[in-house]
Amino acid sequence: MSVSKKNVNPWALTFAVYPVEPGERNKSMIENRSEQLVFALSKGRILKETLPLLKEAGIALLEDPDKSRKLIFPTTRDDVKILIIRATDVPTYVEHGAADLGVSGKDVLLEHGGNGLYEPLDLNIARCRLMVAARVKEEPVVGRLKVATKFVNVAKRYYAEKGEQVEIIKLYGSMELAPLVNLADRIVDVVDTGNTLKANGLRPTELITHVSSRLVVNKASMKIKHQRIQEILTCLERAVEAKKER
Ligand code: ATP
Ligand code: PRP
Repeated sequence: MSVSKKNVNPWALTFAVYPVEPGERNKSMIENRSEQLVFALSKGRILKETLPLLKEAGIALLEDPDKSRKLIFPTTRDDVKILIIRATDVPTYVEHGAADLGVSGKDVLLEHGGNGLYEPLDLNIARCRLMVAARVKEEPVVGRLKVATKFVNVAKRYYAEKGEQVEIIKLYGSMELAPLVNLADRIVDVVDTGNTLKANGLRPTELITHVSSRLVVNKASMKIKHQRIQEILTCLERAVEAKKER
C-alpha cells in the first residue's frame, strides 16, 4: 500500500530517519569539546581507589580535592579534566554527555537503569555486596513487609522477582536506622565487613548481588573519541590485572 505524501507528518519522518539513541542525545556537545576528555568521579572511596589506576594512564590530579571547593579539576594531561560529584550522579553526567567517562558502583548503575552507557571494564575496586538485612531479634512481621532503602528500583525488582508484595520506603542514607525505630522491617543496602549492621543489631539475610565499580563511557564519546578512550581503557585494564596479581 502506498502512503500519500499528504498524510505523512514531516516531523515523524525526521525522527524515523534519524532516531536519537539513548546516550547519544548530546552528541553535538561532545563534538564541541572533542579535544577534551572529561572524567566524572565521586569523592571518597571511588576517588581514592581510582586515582592509582588513572596514574597508569598518565592522569593525576594537579590539586587535592579535599582542600578545594572546586568541582572541576585539571590533571597532568592537558586534554583531561576530572569532575568530582556525588556517586549517584555519575551515571547521569556520563549518559547525558556532560562527562565522557566515569567510575560508578554496580549498585548505583543497577539503580540508575537504562542502556544509555557503555560499561566496558570492571575496575575491581570498592567491592561490597547489595544485601537485604533484618533485625537480629525480630518479632514475626504482620502484614506487608516494609523495606527501607535508597535503592528503590533494585528493591522493587528484587521483590517482584520473588513474587512478594512489599512497601518500599525511600531513604537517602543511614538505612540501618530504619528497623531500629520501626520505620521498616528490612533494609536493602551495601555491606562490606558487616560491621555497620552488627553495630546496629542487624544481620544480613539475603544476597541481592556482588558489587564493584565499573568504568562507564558515553556512547557518542566512544565513537567520536574512540582512539583516546581506547588508549585509556587499555592502560586501566593493565593496571587492574597487575593489581590482581600483586
Ligand atoms: P552518595 O554520596 O551519592 O549518597 P555514597 O555515599 O554511597 O553515595 P560512597 O560511600 O563513596 O558514596 O560509595 C561509593 C560506592 O562504593 C558505592 O556506590 C558502592 O558501590 C561502594 N561502597 C559503598 N559502601 C562501601 C563499603 N562499605 N565498602 C566497599 N565499597 C562500598
Ligand atoms: C556504607 C553503607 C553501609 C556501610 C557498610 O556506608 O551504606 O552503611 O558502608 O560497610 P560495612 O559492612 O563495612 O560496615 P559508608 O561507609 O559509605 O558511609 P555513608 O553512610 O556515608 O555512605
